[in-house]
Amino acid sequence: AEDGQYDVMFIGTVGTVLKVIALNSGNSLETEEVTLEELQIFKQALYAGSPVGVAQVKLHRCETYGKACAECCLARDPYCAWDGSSCTRYIPNSKRRYRRQDIRHGNPALQCVDQNLDVDVTEDRMVYGTENNSTFLECVPRSPQATVTWLVQRDDHKEEVKLDDRVMSTDQGLLFRR
Ligand SMILES: *[C@@H]1O[C@H](CO)[C@@H](O)[C@H](O)[C@H]1NC(C)=O
Ligand SMILES: *[C@@H]1O[C@H](CO)[C@@H](O)[C@H](O)[C@H]1NC(C)=O
Repeated sequence: AEDGQYDVMFIGTVGTVLKVIALNSGNSLETEEVTLEELQIFKQALYAGSPVGVAQVKLHRCETYGKACAECCLARDPYCAWDGSSCTRYIPNSKRRYRRQDIRHGNPALQCVDQNLDVDVTEDRMVYGTENNSTFLECVPRSPQATVTWLVQRDDHKEEVKLDDRVMSTDQGLLFRR
């Protein structure tokens, strides 16, 4: 610190770590312990170990599920819930009014009926292609439960894209090889 060195102790207990500093009061030999923080490590993170090292993994990354109630609900992650404006960490017994999630059924029709009516989950993207050259249409679903269907607009109706050696479906999207 600015005024000298301090001993900071990280004391391991059952599931928690106490962060404590010991202060010497004046000339006296007595010390005062100040608890700075009590970290609930095993409630907050997952640790993965390997011969290479140890990695700390977050238990929830709710923001990656998207910006709509339906996406949050379809994710079916017990750690996450729709709070009325974003997909955030679910905290039990919190007084927040909107806590929308549906782990069992992932049914946004029931959970999100009054939410985000002005937000369209789909996104329009314009992609240009060159004749005889390859074109890639990217679509990576946020949820592993999602299925991607490629449709082509023909005059007044849409039909499913026929895959062959010229048009290939990949994990990242649709590839027109030529
Ligand atoms: C595309 O390929 C066809 C058949 O090979 C050819 O007739 C045509 O000129 C090519 N178009 C362009 C823009 O290269
Ligand atoms: C296809 O696109 C690539 C990258 O834009 C370009 O280098 C190549 O000349 C194109 N080939 C044809 C046949 O247009």
